[in-house]
Amino acid sequence: MARFWVCVAGAGFFLASLVLHSRFCGSPVLRNFAFQISWRSEKVAYRLDLDWPKYSDYFTGTTFCVTVDSLNGLVYVAQRGDNIPKVLVFTEDGYFLRAWNYTVDTPHGMFAASTLHEQSVWITDVGSGSYGHTVKKYNTFGDLVQVLGTPGKKGTGLNPLQFDNPAELYVDDTGDIYIVDGDGGLNNRLIKLSQDFMILWLHGQNGTGPAKFNIPHSVTLDSSGRVWVADRGNKRIQVFDKETGEWLGEWNNCFTEEGPSSVRFTPDGKYLIVAQLNLSRLSFLAAPPVGSIGDCSVISTIQLPDQVLPHLLEVDRKTGAIYVAEIGAKQVQKFVPLNSYLLSFGL
Ligand SMILES: *[C@@H]1O[C@H](CO)[C@@H](O)[C@H](O)[C@H]1NC(C)=O
Ligand SMILES: *[C@@H]1O[C@H](CO)[C@@H](O)[C@H](O)[C@H]1NC(C)=O
Ligand SMILES: *[C@@H]1O[C@H](CO)[C@@H](O)[C@H](O)[C@H]1NC(C)=O
Repeated sequence: MARFWVCVAGAGFFLASLVLHSRFCGSPVLRNFAFQISWRSEKVAYRLDLDWPKYSDYFTGTTFCVTVDSLNGLVYVAQRGDNIPKVLVFTEDGYFLRAWNYTVDTPHGMFAASTLHEQSVWITDVGSGSYGHTVKKYNTFGDLVQVLGTPGKKGTGLNPLQFDNPAELYVDDTGDIYIVDGDGGLNNRLIKLSQDFMILWLHGQNGTGPAKFNIPHSVTLDSSGRVWVADRGNKRIQVFDKETGEWLGEWNNCFTEEGPSSVRFTPDGKYLIVAQLNLSRLSFLAAPPVGSIGDCSVISTIQLPDQVLPHLLEVDRKTGAIYVAEIGAKQVQKFVPLNSYLLSFGL
């Protein structure tokens, strides 16, 4: 169980010291790190919520993804491992509610897509067993309600639809579904499906040119109708028009060291939060409101300790809280915006 202790707030930057109780060692080992979170703009400021979850003993596997149903105040976490619950459901204030593992093999990404009429969570599964290579929809109690793809069979086929290591998905308020497929494997594609699961458009080629991918790992939408894809193997983010699928541009100047693993916007749409796995870093990039995406510019970063390995993250659209699924530290951590920044959401 790793815990941060944010102790000093300075002018324009925060100094924090980390106390890591290693859960991998027999006896708790105390290690001290010092790290600095620098803000070029003081408006983007978060602190670690030490109170979330109330008990971290529920993280018994490798936590690959997290998603937030902000309508109902629920946080879903999916973890991998043998003989453990695969999906954990918490309240947004950190209380554990329930868990399930039936029909979940090897979770990779997830997305909570609740409406006023229905609570649901989607999971991408990269397993090789009978539930693998699918994108599945569950209700909040873990009942399987929809399966996309051909269960247990990887492939590049479109009819029937076959995935190969589907990485993540994003469901628009209209019900349209954007899937990145995948996390290695044969496919390197971005697919838009209608709410009745018809293919609306698709970019399906492996490569380095425009609208081609190498490990498209995470996908999100902004409020001006653009689709943002973390094209991790190509060390860039590519942007598309959500209606037509037209390629709008790419950002690569921020990712010379390592490609982006996860992409999500802050609720005010001003920043794109990007996780870089091996760098153990979260970056806040200035998001262009409309039109040309221009160049990428890092406004601030949260540097996590080595080996924490943030894989995928989610932002609570109501509160602005960031949840980070860390495959190295084997936990999910919650960062909450400081008051000054929260006010700027107009919440
Ligand atoms: C499912 O989770 C339960 C604990 O919640 C565990 O006892 C069981 O072994 C798990 N099953 C699998 C197949 O992982
Ligand atoms: C995709 O292309 C990259 C180089 O652009 C290569 O490293 C990778 O192996 C290719 N993947 C597939 C599935 O062909
Ligand atoms: C992270 O490091 C591991 C081990 O060196 C490597 O296999 C993996 O490809 C790296 N991932 C990224 C996103 O760079």
